Amino acid sequence: MAFFMLNVFSILLGVFFTNANGSFYQYYSPLWGLNHLTVNPQATEVQLLMDRSSGAGFRSKLEYGSGLFHIRMKIPDRKTGGIVTSFYLTSAPDNQDPGNHYELDFEFLGTTGKVQTNVYDNDEGHREQTFNLWFDPSKDFHTYEILWNPHQIVFFVDKIPIRVFKNNTAHGLDYPWKPMHIEASIWDAEWAGVVDWSQAPFIAHYQDFDFSACPAQISTVSQCNSDKYFWNGQWELNATQKQQMRSYRNSYMVYDYCSKPTTSKPECSLNN
Ligand SMILES: *[C@@H]1O[C@H](CO)[C@@H](O)[C@H](O)[C@H]1NC(C)=O
Ligand SMILES: *[C@@H]1O[C@H](CO)[C@@H](O)[C@H](O)[C@H]1NC(C)=O
Repeated sequence: MAFFMLNVFSILLGVFFTNANGSFYQYYSPLWGLNHLTVNPQATEVQLLMDRSSGAGFRSKLEYGSGLFHIRMKIPDRKTGGIVTSFYLTSAPDNQDPGNHYELDFEFLGTTGKVQTNVYDNDEGHREQTFNLWFDPSKDFHTYEILWNPHQIVFFVDKIPIRVFKNNTAHGLDYPWKPMHIEASIWDAEWAGVVDWSQAPFIAHYQDFDFSACPAQISTVSQCNSDKYFWNGQWELNATQKQQMRSYRNSYMVYDYCSKPTTSKPECSLNN
């Protein structure tokens, strides 16, 4: 009963206070590497520390079925490859077999400034698009944002749209429909390069934990398609945003799975 009450309470919080300037604990809980995760006394900033013994991560208390998710992040300033600093949505349970999982990723590959986006669409993923940024992401906080509604998924950096993944179910393709948690983490990945441990520890900073989203469970996710949620009204980018995205991608995209026949997927010809 107490557990049930707590759940109802946190769902109410999620619904009514989505625009409040949230403290970390209102929306998130530490997930792993607890002794490598530090929350400041006001709960307005979290540090995730990576050293040889561990990284760390946190996760939203609730799962969501649509929303405009964002965080402010400053990646570690000590230069290395191999350390991934991330902010992403992921369907539960995590790390499912290919073919049973959705994921929308921002992942910094090493700390030299390249950010990779990826989409797992109930399959093995491999929809990487990797970008340079127009700023040094280790110097200041910047906003990383993911819009997920029934029409499109958009990745934004400081409000600039950098990538769109459309709902192409009308063309027979899949589109994320399972509830997802929000997660953020720092960890070491062989595929992201070689770690220079002489530079450790690597410390990532996160701020701005509030966001606007529709809490959902697997049975209620379709309710998150409702027009009453403002973020569901964005069917596509407007002309200004499309222009911004085109020019950004022309100048800054350094890898695109759509650019080669061996890695391209059916949505590549439909997402433009
Ligand atoms: C995708 O779009 C179709 C309409 O084309 C809609 O029926 C469906 O609910 C959308 N999928 C999701 C997960 O929102
Ligand atoms: C396009 O969308 C952006 C972001 O929502 C908004 O700031 C801008 O005013 C819009 N521009 C037009 C021409 O509608």
